[in-house]
Amino acid sequence: MTSSNQNTELKTIIIAIDGYSGCGKSSTAKAVAARLSYAYIDTGAMYRAVTLYFYRHKVDYLSKGQVRKALTSILLEFKFDETTKSSHIYLNGENVESLIRQMHISERVSNVSTIAEVRHFLVAQQRLMGTKKGIVMDGRDIGTVVFPDAELKVFMTAQVPTRALRRQKELKSLGQEVELSEIINNLEKRDLIDSTREESPLRKADDAIEIDTTNLEFEEQVTKILELMKEPQSIA
Ligand code: DC
Repeated sequence: MTSSNQNTELKTIIIAIDGYSGCGKSSTAKAVAARLSYAYIDTGAMYRAVTLYFYRHKVDYLSKGQVRKALTSILLEFKFDETTKSSHIYLNGENVESLIRQMHISERVSNVSTIAEVRHFLVAQQRLMGTKKGIVMDGRDIGTVVFPDAELKVFMTAQVPTRALRRQKELKSLGQEVELSEIINNLEKRDLIDSTREESPLRKADDAIEIDTTNLEFEEQVTKILELMKEPQSIA
């Protein structure tokens, strides 16, 4: 092995993982981060926590004044949970990790994430989290907007029925029984809003590597990304 290859393997980088809902981004990103001892940030959880706050406080999304005022009252933090061995999101000191996964939040979050003020508020925080590198961040605009210079960008895709089944399983593990048709409806609606919104729409960065997870086992997804890290041509 040449010394330049060794340097590539040892380099501490930013890994940006983007893609549609339910492609396995979060679970894959979490596992990749754990294997590398990197920090993991689920940016979807941040949009969901803001949505929960807006829902509870009846914030009118169309009122810029109300949105700006609400954002000044929101403090988001990630804290490591020893029981589940994963990081949980806190909204103003309250652990809301499970609450933000409820269907009524999933139904509202895409609309909240079209609001420019919300995106600027969260993107600024996400960039700060990456200043020391050694981070895996997943979302919709990580490789295009948050970290356009990320050394490794992955864009995950999967067919809708596969994504819906995965989401149903995830919800079941949280104690929620949801019909597959309702999940498919929600995924398709969110795909449309996420990819057509004016402010940083979901799209594959030109230099992102696409991984279709439809026929991949979870472990294969994780291994694929870890292998990409060892290929100098995949790392910017
Ligand atoms: O990954 P998720 O399904 O938990 O994300 C919830 C919503 O948040 C998703 O519909 C779009 C939005 N989102 C976004 O606009 N930008 C991100 N970086 C992450 C999520």
